[in-house]
Amino acid sequence: MYKLFVAGALAAGALAAQLTQVSNYNNSAKAKPGMQDITFRRPWWVYVPDAVKSDALVVAIHSCQSSAQKYFQNSKIPWKQGSDRKGYVSVWPSSTTECWDVSSRASLSHDGGGDSNAIANMIKYAVGQYKIDPKKVYVTGGSSGGMMSNVMAATYPELISAVSLYSGVPAGCFVSASGASAAWNNSCSGGQSTATAQKWGDVVRNMYPGYNGTRPKMQFWHGSVDSTLSPNNYQEEVKQWTNVFEVSQTPTESKKDTPEKNYRTDDYGPNVEAIWAVGVGHSVPSHLDASEAWFGL
Ligand SMILES: *[C@@H]1O[C@H](CO)[C@@H](O)[C@H](O)[C@H]1NC(C)=O
Ligand SMILES: *[C@@H]1O[C@H](CO)[C@@H](O)[C@H](O)[C@H]1NC(C)=O
Ligand SMILES: *[C@@H]1O[C@H](CO)[C@@H](O)[C@H](O)[C@H]1NC(C)=O
Repeated sequence: MYKLFVAGALAAGALAAQLTQVSNYNNSAKAKPGMQDITFRRPWWVYVPDAVKSDALVVAIHSCQSSAQKYFQNSKIPWKQGSDRKGYVSVWPSSTTECWDVSSRASLSHDGGGDSNAIANMIKYAVGQYKIDPKKVYVTGGSSGGMMSNVMAATYPELISAVSLYSGVPAGCFVSASGASAAWNNSCSGGQSTATAQKWGDVVRNMYPGYNGTRPKMQFWHGSVDSTLSPNNYQEEVKQWTNVFEVSQTPTESKKDTPEKNYRTDDYGPNVEAIWAVGVGHSVPSHLDASEAWFGL
């Protein structure tokens, strides 16, 4: 009995790591003139595993009607397990609106003062605070968090090395014509927002005009029977990121039943990978191993 008790106490001690809120992070900065200053009201949490074995950082962005804590505790969201298993730090941003703001000009601009700016500031703070290699910052998310992952790649390419997003839409697809923040966009969700690859590429380039550095390599997953965010968005994302990386929309390699039966993995060179999940709705389940492999973790 005594031995069991001690073993139990040790096991509890060994699992001491918890999701912890970070309060003061560059929160005195102001948005650009003319853009709504909503950046610095975004709370976030960090998970530092007991045994840090990696200098990488994973940013896990939650879906609508969720929060950092709910996403962290969701058994289908594997990034806590990933942190524990591979010893990397993970950052969990939390929106204060129902969904992330992927519609206002502020959020769709580099240093625009919107949600993307808030997450960028979390990344910058975390890189310094947890001794992260700035070349090993990875972003993931599902649904609204998947949309935001695309927006982060477009607005802060210099901060992110790779993105693995689930069931999102192209960066800028949810734009609000009236500039509303965190607005729903029926045209995009319904699959009517289609454009040429050039136009989708321009949408990305215009979010950070003049940027000419490296961009994060993009992996995106979408279900073929997604009734929340039309499967059309998959092809629009292919157009967008192949244009940004200046590669053909014809896959360089196509793998059937990868990473599991009824999924197809299409590569467009080394920087764009699209995974089509046949018969899967909204949202495609997170595939920790495949996403980590894309990140090089
Ligand atoms: C603080 O935030 C501003 C506005 O987002 C940004 O330009 C600046 O680089 C940030 N500073 C640090 C130290 O992260
Ligand atoms: C929805 O997004 C599309 C681009 O995807 C845009 O053209 C349209 O104006 C947006 N709709 C509204 C109501 O803002
Ligand atoms: C990229 O941008 C930097 C900073 O604005 C500039 O110094 C550099 O010349 C640019 N490089 C190219 C190839 O345009």
